[in-house]
Amino acid sequence: MTFQPYDRPVRAAFIGLGRIYDLNVLAYVDNPDVEVVALVDPSEERRAQRQADWPGARAFASAAELASSGIEVDAVEALLPVQLHADGVVELLGYGWHVNLQKPMCNDLREAERMLAAARGNDKILRVMENYLFYEPLRRLKDTVAAGEIGDVCSYHIKMVGSTYGGWDVPISSWLWQWEQMKRGRGIMVFDDGWHKLATAIWLFGPIREVRAWIGTTSVGPEVDLDAPTTICWEHESGVRGVWDVTVAMDMYLRSDYYTNDERWEVTGRRGYARVNRCTGRGIQQPSLEVYRDGEMRGYHALDDDWGSSFLASGRHWLRWLHTGDGPLLWSGDEAVDVLRFALAGYASSAGGGVGVNPKEVT
Ligand SMILES: NC(=O)c1ccc[n+]([C@@H]2O[C@H](COP(=O)([O-])OP(=O)(O)OC[C@H]3O[C@@H](n4cnc5c(N)ncnc54)[C@H](O)[C@@H]3O)[C@@H](O)[C@H]2O)c1
Repeated sequence: MTFQPYDRPVRAAFIGLGRIYDLNVLAYVDNPDVEVVALVDPSEERRAQRQADWPGARAFASAAELASSGIEVDAVEALLPVQLHADGVVELLGYGWHVNLQKPMCNDLREAERMLAAARGNDKILRVMENYLFYEPLRRLKDTVAAGEIGDVCSYHIKMVGSTYGGWDVPISSWLWQWEQMKRGRGIMVFDDGWHKLATAIWLFGPIREVRAWIGTTSVGPEVDLDAPTTICWEHESGVRGVWDVTVAMDMYLRSDYYTNDERWEVTGRRGYARVNRCTGRGIQQPSLEVYRDGEMRGYHALDDDWGSSFLASGRHWLRWLHTGDGPLLWSGDEAVDVLRFALAGYASSAGGGVGVNPKEVT
């Protein structure tokens, strides 16, 4: 890469103006690092709605129209349905734009290779954003563990419960492509939202050498099968083991400003444990991080535990990075492939009856 940091505001465009735009946009508001010059979405309704945020930006129905408009663009925020990620990213990189892509990166390794090749071929940066790595309680959990506060790590547990009542509205159009993904074996629990949990595992404890999975099914409507109950466990190259249980609780009310997702991360060390009690939703109304050691519990009451803030921090990290080129992208395209391999190893294991699969060996 011959990346040259910008010494002026980055000229940016949003490609896809749907549900998650509401959070991705946070990093762009009142940020002198960036100037939003264009908005792209085939939906006229979405264009009109988002134009109100950026009256000075031009709106287009397609990226091709933007590319031929003469408007100069340096980087784009790609917020597309997952099925469009591979072709979309190859197209966007081909126009000479750096790309900040929403997760999951794509559905399989062949698509990932095409995307990485397009980044190399066009000498542009492909980042696959991972907002969970910017959620302050998780960052503090990582620091707490790394500082040795709970002793050497023995193992850890991630919990995730999806419910349907209590969060923000998700339009039917946002669900339709998710249902297509489910039919292709890339479910919303394990693959779409689950991508974050797998990403945090790698971020916390490093590369994975073996995955064992039991992926279940819950039918919630005609031709709509959710990929839970699911249990996935794994061993890192360090020897630390993790386990993640995924549950659907269709009738549970969960207070949330966003999606109805009750999540926890609990790391057990030789002397104590550290637990993040919630993330997307507001399940447990305790401090968002608690650390137990030597008979005493410490609660962190003043962390920024608004899940939306993780998008703001992730987006600002990207826009600052474009001005420095310094430090990790969180994630680079290559690192995102490690997350994809982790998920694919889970599918291969479950299909094989729970056998151990090395993510490096999935094809
Ligand atoms: N980080 C997170 O926690 C998180 C949460 C939700 C969604 N996401 C991810 O964000 C992405 C988008 O999800 P969403 O929920 O906003 O979906 P959405 O369906 O609400 O929005 C997608 C938008 O893309 C538009 N679109 C379709 N084809 C297009 C094209 N060719 N060019 C430009 N725009 C096009 C659609 O009209 C729609 O407005 C997905 O990858 C999803 O997995 C991430």
